[in-house]
Amino acid sequence: MDVLRTAVSALAFYDADEKNNDHDANVRKAIRLTSQIAMIVAAYDRIRKDKPLVEADRSLSHSGNFLLQLTGSKPSATAERALDIALILHADHELNASTFAARVTAATLSDMHSAITSAIGALKGPLHGGANEAVFRILETIDREKADPVEYVRNLLAQKKKVPGFGHRVYHTEDPRATHLRVMSRDLGRSSGQPQWYEMSEKIEQFVKAEKKLNANVDFYSASTYHLLGIDEDLFTPVFAVSRISGWAAHVIEQLDDNRLIRPRAEYLGPTYPNHYVAIGKR
Ligand code: COA
Repeated sequence: MDVLRTAVSALAFYDADEKNNDHDANVRKAIRLTSQIAMIVAAYDRIRKDKPLVEADRSLSHSGNFLLQLTGSKPSATAERALDIALILHADHELNASTFAARVTAATLSDMHSAITSAIGALKGPLHGGANEAVFRILETIDREKADPVEYVRNLLAQKKKVPGFGHRVYHTEDPRATHLRVMSRDLGRSSGQPQWYEMSEKIEQFVKAEKKLNANVDFYSASTYHLLGIDEDLFTPVFAVSRISGWAAHVIEQLDDNRLIRPRAEYLGPTYPNHYVAIGKR
C-alpha cells in the first residue's frame, strides 16, 4: 500500500491531463488509473521477487491480465472469472472510509490523483482494507500449528480481541458480498485440491455467529479466495485497490461535476470558561 500510495501520487506528473480537471479529462484519468493500479501491484510483486515483468495481453480481460502480469502465466477461465467477480464485488460501496476520503479531497477542487492518493491512505488501515490479510494470517497459523479453528478463535475472543473478517458498521445481517465469496472460496478450494482453507473458515464463521452474533464480512472469504488465486497475503489490500479504483474514481467525478465543499462541524464537549481558564498573569 505504501508503494501504491507513492506511485499513484507520482503518476500525476506523467498524466497527459495533469492540469485538466474537467469531466472528460477525469474520465480519461479514471480509465488510465484503473489500468495503472493493477499493473503497479503486479509489477511490484514481480520486481521484489526478482522476476521479469510481463507484457499485457490484449486478448485477455482486465482480471485476466492482472493474473497474467502477477503470476507470469495465463490464468484458467475459472481463476479469471473468480477474480473478475471479486473485483466487481469490491468495486464500490457508497461512503466507506476511503471513498469518503477521496470525496473530501476532491471537494476542495483538488485533482483526481490527489483524491485517489487520499483514498489509498485510508484503505491501508486494518479496520478498512487490511482485514482480509489479517484473516489469512490467522488461517495460515491454524494450518501450520494444526490448531483447532474454533479453539483458536475462542482464545482470541477471550483476550477481548476482534476477529478480523467479522462485523460491519452498516450490515447487521449477512454482507451480500460474503455470500458470493463464500461460494468462490469453496469451489476454488475443491478444484485446486486445497479444501482446508474453506473448511477452517466455515467452522470459524459458525462459531463467531453463534458466540458473538456477528456475520462474516467481505474480507472473511476473500482471504481464502485470493490465496487460492495465487495472490500473496500482503497484496490482498492492494488488490482491493485494484477493484475499488473504479468506485473511487466514479465518486470523484460525481463530486467534481456538482461540487460542494465537505466540511463537517465538530461539537465541543469539554469544560467551558470561566470554570477552568486561568488568565496568563495568574498562572
Ligand atoms: N470480533 C469480535 N468482536 C467484534 C467484532 C469482531 N470482528 N466486531 C465488532 N465486535 C464487537 C465489539 O467488540 C463491540 O463489542 P462491545 O459492545 O462489547 O464493546 C461490538 O461488537 C460493536 O463493535 P464496534 O467496533 O463498535 O462496531 P463498529 O460498527 O464500530 O465496527 C468494524 C465495525 C468493521 C470496524 C468492526 O466490526 C471490526 O473491527 N471488525 C474487524 C475488522 C474487519 O473485519 N474490518 C473489515 C470491515 S469490511
